[in-house]
Amino acid sequence: MLDRLPGFRDFYPEPLPTPDAWSADLRQHIFDVWRQTALRYGFREYDGPPLEPLELYTNKSGAEIVGQLFNFVDKGKREVSMRPEMTPTVARMVASAERSYKKPIKWFSMPQLFRYEKQQKGRLREHFQFNCDLFGEPGPGADAEVVSLLIDVLRGLGLTAEDFVIRLSTRQAWQQFFERSGGDPARAYEFYQIVDKLDREPAEISGPKLAGLGLTLSAVQGFLHHGEPTPELAQLLQNLAARGLSDYAQVDYGIIRGLAYYTGIVFEAFDRKGEFRAIAGGGRYDGLVKQVSDGKVDLPALGFGMGDVVLAELLKSRKKVPAFTANVDAVVLIEDEQLRPASLGVVQRLRDAGHVIEYSLVPQKGDKQFKRAQEFASRFTVRLEIAPDGVRARIKQLATREEKVVSLADLAL
Ligand code: HAM
Repeated sequence: MLDRLPGFRDFYPEPLPTPDAWSADLRQHIFDVWRQTALRYGFREYDGPPLEPLELYTNKSGAEIVGQLFNFVDKGKREVSMRPEMTPTVARMVASAERSYKKPIKWFSMPQLFRYEKQQKGRLREHFQFNCDLFGEPGPGADAEVVSLLIDVLRGLGLTAEDFVIRLSTRQAWQQFFERSGGDPARAYEFYQIVDKLDREPAEISGPKLAGLGLTLSAVQGFLHHGEPTPELAQLLQNLAARGLSDYAQVDYGIIRGLAYYTGIVFEAFDRKGEFRAIAGGGRYDGLVKQVSDGKVDLPALGFGMGDVVLAELLKSRKKVPAFTANVDAVVLIEDEQLRPASLGVVQRLRDAGHVIEYSLVPQKGDKQFKRAQEFASRFTVRLEIAPDGVRARIKQLATREEKVVSLADLAL
């Protein structure tokens, strides 16, 4: 049998065939909370193409993502790539349609993304990523709104301040530090990438890299740990405090983000125990809309992306995955095949009324059908029978074994 490609997933309905299988029900639960929370914040849903011109990424996303593209030449000889992230797409969409929308523009989407990464814990070659982005507002009030939305999504999934924290930082503070230390402004992004990898790379590698830019590891470590919020971060923290959300966020200059386009406040969400990779990441990217529109539209922007992979692993490990069932309302038992046409009529009527209804597609012994109803954890069974005055229905509530007999005309759950 042909297996699936490495880093790609099959999603099964519950109960799962193996404990490590990916659950389609859990995915739906995550999607529901993503969508409901974004809508509560007044964000509107959009989508874009899964395949984009390669160029959209090669000069905008930064070296790390570009090295991970699923790109190829299509039959029309175009250089194309599966989307590795949503931000360049949404920046393009906003740039070409911003006149049709009142500012600030607040949009969300839940695309499947593709990155040719080494498969490891929390990292696959495809994932679904909740993206929330806000355009047209430069002040930290917008950053606070987006960070609050991120916090509320995780709270909506049942996680608490003991489970996760948002680490807040700013590229501007790092930029000022870099320039104060004699760094060449043209090489700032090189510097950010070294800082981004400090906790993953040994000192023997990052030390010489920093030296190449005229900096020392100890000076960088010193700045990283000073922890004083910049005025902008202080405003963001005050805004979160006013909402009662202080426990969910802290300043941490260890965050700088790997992508090229960030310009201001940046942040990542982590589990408190530090067991998993980042749950989400984002920040301000005030120059990207201008860049994708070749200077025609200039709008400040910020947002975040949250993947489903780390999130599902975290929810499982913190026991925050709800029990999923087929939610069957009633099983219609057909014990007398003469009654199949009338029973199908009942199945249709109950489904039209919005109920989840099951029945046996083929003739089957009554006790087998009843056993199946119990396996479904159905609330009711409905069985038609022939009475002297016509066909009637016997409705049984499985939990209480209570039974009532009604005429077909009165049949309802
Ligand atoms: P990112 O940090 O590359 O940011 O990805 C955001 C989140 O997506 C990560 O924290 C992680 O949860 C998930 N993720 C990323 N790559 C993978 C992977 N290979 N497997 C599983 N999960 C993954 C961005 O993509 C930015 N475009 C986010 C953004 C939106 N910034 C502003 N607006």
